[in-house]
Amino acid sequence: MLKLMAKDGILRRIIESAAAAPSIHNTQPWRFTVVADDLLEVHADPDRALWVSDPHARALYLSCGAALFNIKTAIRMTGFNPLVWPLPQSEFAPTVLAAVQAEPGRPPTFAERELYEAIWRRHTNRGPFTDEPIAEPMLIALEQAAGFEFATLRMLNGADAARVLDMAASASEELAGDVDHQIELQKWIATSSRDDGIPAEALPSRPTSEPSPVRGDLSSAAPAVLRPEVSYERDPQLAVLTTARDEPSDWLRAGQALQRVLLTATAHGLSASFLYQSIELRDMRPESAPAWPWPEIPQIVIRLGYGRPQAAAPRRPLDDVLTRAAQTAELP
Ligand SMILES: Cc1cc2nc3c(=O)[nH]c(=O)nc-3n(C[C@H](O)[C@H](O)[C@H](O)COP(=O)(O)O)c2cc1C
Repeated sequence: MLKLMAKDGILRRIIESAAAAPSIHNTQPWRFTVVADDLLEVHADPDRALWVSDPHARALYLSCGAALFNIKTAIRMTGFNPLVWPLPQSEFAPTVLAAVQAEPGRPPTFAERELYEAIWRRHTNRGPFTDEPIAEPMLIALEQAAGFEFATLRMLNGADAARVLDMAASASEELAGDVDHQIELQKWIATSSRDDGIPAEALPSRPTSEPSPVRGDLSSAAPAVLRPEVSYERDPQLAVLTTARDEPSDWLRAGQALQRVLLTATAHGLSASFLYQSIELRDMRPESAPAWPWPEIPQIVIRLGYGRPQAAAPRRPLDDVLTRAAQTAELP
């Protein structure tokens, strides 16, 4: 029987897919270990964790969950099925977030191919979007994408979006005044000569009106970067990705749902950016974060719309993120 991970070209494509996932501030907080010819592990990389702003590692799990979804999608392209064990040894090996076994399956569907192709075209877009509304069937397709991964995407109407933008603005202000947070953020912002972090070209412009639909405190960590003033869309289409519970397994699931939503959006010509600051602030200081108005647990706020392509964030070389266990070291 063909052992999928023993094929060097296929393995590299699977890992490249994983590494193309979005991650908090492009920290790429992951490592991938081939433990057998048909078995891959997704690990958290503690050296890339944000100890100040992500004390419970929610954002790290979300990021690694997005990478895990890409691995599943890339494995499907080979006609294999990914069998996933989430958090397989959380007590003994806490960095292992998932084990993925590839077993023979059916050929990929058209929809699966569309998602896979979107992996390479998806980039966070912090530029202005047009005022063109997103059609109802598309919004429903995005909600369904989250549902496939056992999360909920709550599309916000104008009044609710305004409320969430206000919460994001006050969280941004509080975080911009937190010295420890800013010092940590500075390591990952405007990192143009590196292969991680957010390059200056990908930072948001200055919106002509407030509250901002893009995250303002990112730029306060890079005051030397000149940002033109531009006018953003009047009524941003926001959505909140939520889960019923709030455990590490929910964060990993939410990361997979996030990526399925983003790839579905990309496949249909939509762009997305994020407003994570309210959730970050609640994890850092639950007592000072504004009360969340809905019963479900918010994992990330997504802004959706039609925009022009923006600068892509870089990725680390494959060999920095891939480890091959001894028994698979003699790959062709
Ligand atoms: C959990 C999580 C939170 C994020 N929060 C924000 C955010 O608040 N604002 C923002 O502009 N980008 C946010 N991002 C996007 C990352 O900065 C982005 O994925 C990373 O820089 C890599 O760029 P790419 O998405 O274009 O590949 C977030 C991503 C993840 C996974």
